[in-house]
Amino acid sequence: SLTPVILCGGSGTRLWPLSREHYPKQFLSLGGNGQSMLQNTAVRLSGLCSSIETAPPVLVCNAEHRFLAAQQLQEQGVQGAKLVLEPMGRNTAPALTLAALAAQPDTVLLAMPADHVMTRPQALHRAVEAAWPLAVTGGMVTFGIVADRPETGYGYIQKAQFHTSGAFGIASFAEKPSLELAQQYLSSGQYLWNSGLFMVRADQWLKAMAHLQPTMLQACQQAMAQSTEDLDFIRPNESIFAACPSDSIDYAVMEKLPNDSELGISAYVMPLDCGWSDLGAWDALWDVLPRDAQGNAGSGETLAVDTRNSLLFSENRLVAAVGVENIVVVETADAVLVADKRRTQDVKKIVAELKAQN
Ligand code: GDD
Ligand code: MG
Repeated sequence: SLTPVILCGGSGTRLWPLSREHYPKQFLSLGGNGQSMLQNTAVRLSGLCSSIETAPPVLVCNAEHRFLAAQQLQEQGVQGAKLVLEPMGRNTAPALTLAALAAQPDTVLLAMPADHVMTRPQALHRAVEAAWPLAVTGGMVTFGIVADRPETGYGYIQKAQFHTSGAFGIASFAEKPSLELAQQYLSSGQYLWNSGLFMVRADQWLKAMAHLQPTMLQACQQAMAQSTEDLDFIRPNESIFAACPSDSIDYAVMEKLPNDSELGISAYVMPLDCGWSDLGAWDALWDVLPRDAQGNAGSGETLAVDTRNSLLFSENRLVAAVGVENIVVVETADAVLVADKRRTQDVKKIVAELKAQN
């Protein structure tokens, strides 16, 4: 069977002030269709590969957001989901490990970030179907997007030999490279962006963790062995999980796996052309939202005069702009962001500064 795992515990600080600690971006409806990114992720699964028996999803999120997550899934009619509640964030490698421990050992996990937009979900269904035999036989499958700019916020996957099932082997994996390296990767034509979706059998993931991240695995195993369950919630033991090292799937496993001959897990990249984007920062949101003839996008009560390629969001008050270009203004009840659209990655610095002050 296939078990979708929705990774939903990020903090989304680059989308401040809409994304907040108590209400991070994956629970917000930013994409313009009235549904949250989590809901869009869950809906994307329906009709996933009619030929593959699909189990209810496992969702891994912060304990604080359990009712928000449960309610949003219920609104979409998602039945039987298990919710693994992290007492604190330890990044995606422990999150996927908790899910692997909560699932059947021989099920194939499909790890899905909850911060993506996909305009052609059918393409994902086809790619998952094509990747299925590789994952069932013990491989680790990533899904690669054709890169069109030297983005430094993504992972880069270097293709190796073509495999009959439509995937390539992986020569190397480089997470969040410098701009210089990203430019080299882009011009070499050998790299795809890592979409952040992974497909791997639960037992193979645990085997990779045992080999590459034994301390992390042990903490997750012990936290799950002493977990408590209520309703659909699974709560790993807090003090044990607190001691788990924090790292992402990409750094902790993917960068190491392709060249680890001892481990013996084959890594693949399946090309995926599904109108993908990661809604990481305000500029990415501007990119996917409908825009007027001047290139302005946004929502709420706004007025733009001689203003171009800008994003204006208003929640409570009129937001008016004149004679500006490439700016982002986000108005909320208690905070207003004004930013250069080319600097929106740095919005996280504001959040860090605010945290340091409090
Ligand atoms: N449960 C849980 N716990 N989920 C988490 C945690 C955590 O501690 N941290 C992050 N997540 C969730 C986020 O909510 C998001 O849905 C997903 O995991 C990915 O985390 P991001 O923090 O958004 O990762 P990224 O965008 O910087 O990088 C990843 O995705 C890129 C593509 O979007 C990497 O896989 C890159 O290689 C990839 O290119
Ligand atoms: Mg992301």
